Amino acid sequence: PLVTTTEMFKKAYDGGYAIGAFNVNNMEIVQGITEAAKEEKAPLILQVSKGARAYANHTYLVKLVEAAVIECPEIPIALHLDHGPDFETCKSCIDGGFTSVMIDASSKPFGENIEITKKVVEYAHDHGVVVEAELGTLAGVEDEVNVKAEDSSYTRPEEVEEFVTKTGCDSLAIAIGTSHGAYKFTPAQCTRNEQGILVPPPLRFDVLEEVSKRLPGFPIVLHGSSSVPQNFVKMINENGGKMPDAIGIPEDELRHAAELSVCKINIDSDLRLAMTATIREHFVQHPGDFDPRQYLKPARAAIKELVRHKLIDVLGCAGKA
Ligand code: G3H
Ligand code: 13P
Ligand code: NA
Ligand code: ZN
Repeated sequence: PLVTTTEMFKKAYDGGYAIGAFNVNNMEIVQGITEAAKEEKAPLILQVSKGARAYANHTYLVKLVEAAVIECPEIPIALHLDHGPDFETCKSCIDGGFTSVMIDASSKPFGENIEITKKVVEYAHDHGVVVEAELGTLAGVEDEVNVKAEDSSYTRPEEVEEFVTKTGCDSLAIAIGTSHGAYKFTPAQCTRNEQGILVPPPLRFDVLEEVSKRLPGFPIVLHGSSSVPQNFVKMINENGGKMPDAIGIPEDELRHAAELSVCKINIDSDLRLAMTATIREHFVQHPGDFDPRQYLKPARAAIKELVRHKLIDVLGCAGKA
């Protein structure tokens, strides 16, 4: 059924796992994700960004998710607005069938973030919808906004209680060193291991711990949590693509976060990489193909296997539906 995240977060918090929140932009992406979640009996969050609504249209996306809910009656699915930029966008999704919205006023001063978030929470709760808010800013690219590493900032644990109390938000996204996109760290920010492979700087688990101490039982969200699988980066680069130094968050760190207070882990870039790598390879191997079904079918299958791996091996939410 289509649900809010309240119940799934409570179970995830108590069970020491996290729910996967995967971004959707078209039918094949919805199908790949939901087929994996159905087979692995995992609770699921499908999330839609402002950019996704601009690309595919609100109604198409809602109807695709409603179709998935019909096809997967045995798992709970939440439909979530990712990075809602303002009250109007949140309202439009609340009125238009979403069960959860994020208001992202994290780039605003603390007081303004509280005011905007509070307004969204009041409207959302009146309509049975839950709200994710954000404190701290991630580096990286989301929609048209590009936050440079030096302008990003970790969440300040001393602010979280006041923020959550004053806004009434239902979950909180925090910045502990993850970032959006396929280039999460520059080579200069990384070290190299004995094999010469880049090793990213560790996430700030101390910040997560401080936050959780101040908000016992409260669900924490991690954005920018793609691991940027190097097999897909390699496939892309070997088949005409050019993605040098693409790098993500090590899955061990995500696994650890999922065991703690983190209840929602956002993944988009890995889906894009799986799809693009598969389609690039397909065209190199089958240069005569021109029926979209010929390349979208393996692309959808690649998304499904990627998501299955995340559910079982990283998030720990397989079998929890
Ligand atoms: O946070 C960003 C998500 O990956 C969504 O990306 O805004 O390009 O749809 P998008
Ligand atoms: P990635 O770019 O790491 O997949 O992050 C996605 C995200 O945070 C969506 O809100
Ligand atoms: Na958790
Ligand atoms: Zn995000």
